[in-house]
Amino acid sequence: MLHQRKDIQQLKLRYQQTLANHLVTAVLILDESLAVCYANPAAEALLIKSLSKLYGVSFELIFTDTTICKSRLEQLLATGQEFTDSDIVIQFSESHQFTAEITASAVEFNRIPHVLLEFKQIDQQKQLSLEVFQQKQWISARDLIKGLAHEIKNPLGGLRGAAQLLSKELNAEQQEYTAMIIEQADRLTNLVDRLLGPNQLPQIHSQNIHSVLEKVYQVISYSSEQKINLKRDYDPSIPVIECDQEKIQQAVLNIVNNAIQAIDKHHNITLRTRIASNKTINGKLIKLAVKISIIDDGPGIPAKIKDTLFYPMVSGRSNGTGLGLSIAQTLINQHHGKLYCHSRPGRTEFVILLPLTQ
Ligand SMILES: Nc1ncnc2c1ncn2[C@@H]1O[C@H](COP(=O)(O)OP(=O)(O)OP(=O)(O)O)[C@@H](O)[C@H]1O
Ligand SMILES: [Mg+2]
Repeated sequence: MLHQRKDIQQLKLRYQQTLANHLVTAVLILDESLAVCYANPAAEALLIKSLSKLYGVSFELIFTDTTICKSRLEQLLATGQEFTDSDIVIQFSESHQFTAEITASAVEFNRIPHVLLEFKQIDQQKQLSLEVFQQKQWISARDLIKGLAHEIKNPLGGLRGAAQLLSKELNAEQQEYTAMIIEQADRLTNLVDRLLGPNQLPQIHSQNIHSVLEKVYQVISYSSEQKINLKRDYDPSIPVIECDQEKIQQAVLNIVNNAIQAIDKHHNITLRTRIASNKTINGKLIKLAVKISIIDDGPGIPAKIKDTLFYPMVSGRSNGTGLGLSIAQTLINQHHGKLYCHSRPGRTEFVILLPLTQ
């Protein structure tokens, strides 16, 4: 009888160990001093560190700036009262962050209370539905503005034509007025054309993405008045891609110009290329894509326009028309790609993903 009980105990232990190793949920165990004493493989993957690196490291060194703080965990150890926090953004390094739902509960090992942390990563599903939602919003905002622009464009042509005819009947002094009408009508036509966005389908050819970026580099270097620290960090192994060189150039230029307007001469802009694998673009899984990043170390996107950044006519600058990013978005969409942005003070990264067809 005793023998059988021992067997079952061992069996249970074996299953529990195997189970912990195969859980999709990341699990961390913290000891009494809130240092890591166990991380299952899912936690190792999430934190991009092995157990041997995590072991003995204080909880506070791994998770900075979260709502799960030392005092709450100490209270948990003392009272055993578990809690769950959702939507916690955990930032490890410049580029690595994730959003998770964390459940903290108390467990005993050798009669000593420990903290059990379970992480449910919610980034991917949240990101996907947010992306689809934002895309729909963006399309309706763009269509509304396009419709409006179209309505303005026709009478504007008539107005300009009439002013031209009128000017023939007038003396030189009076012609100044009609010249002003024509000049302002031209300015408005220009704006309306930008509101209507790119009206030609892309001319797709095989292109080396770096020669497209080098064009942008040259345009910026020659035309910019202020001195710009523009760096390049290219992955030379990227194969040629199918794209319209002019359109990609225009999209990158719009993004780089924004960065230039946001920074001063002490800051840097980096053009970076990489290969990215298994990315979702408009709800589809893309095996291989080219990732073009435009990174600056300026002040970041103003908080009040972050959610509507890509909408037409959204600007954080007093003299901005708010069309640059909306146009860039249209151009990238025409290539079945994706444009998105991560920004915080000190680091703003705009990413263009273009699918690689093999
Ligand atoms: N790298 C960046 N750093 C900080 N803010 C940025 C950056 N890129 C864009 N922005 C913000 O996003 C806003 C929208 O940019 P967008 O290019 O669409 O319009 P705009 O630059 O204001 O006007 P336009 O490009 O039509 O002349 C900008 O006004 C700026 O506030
Ligand atoms: Mg702009």
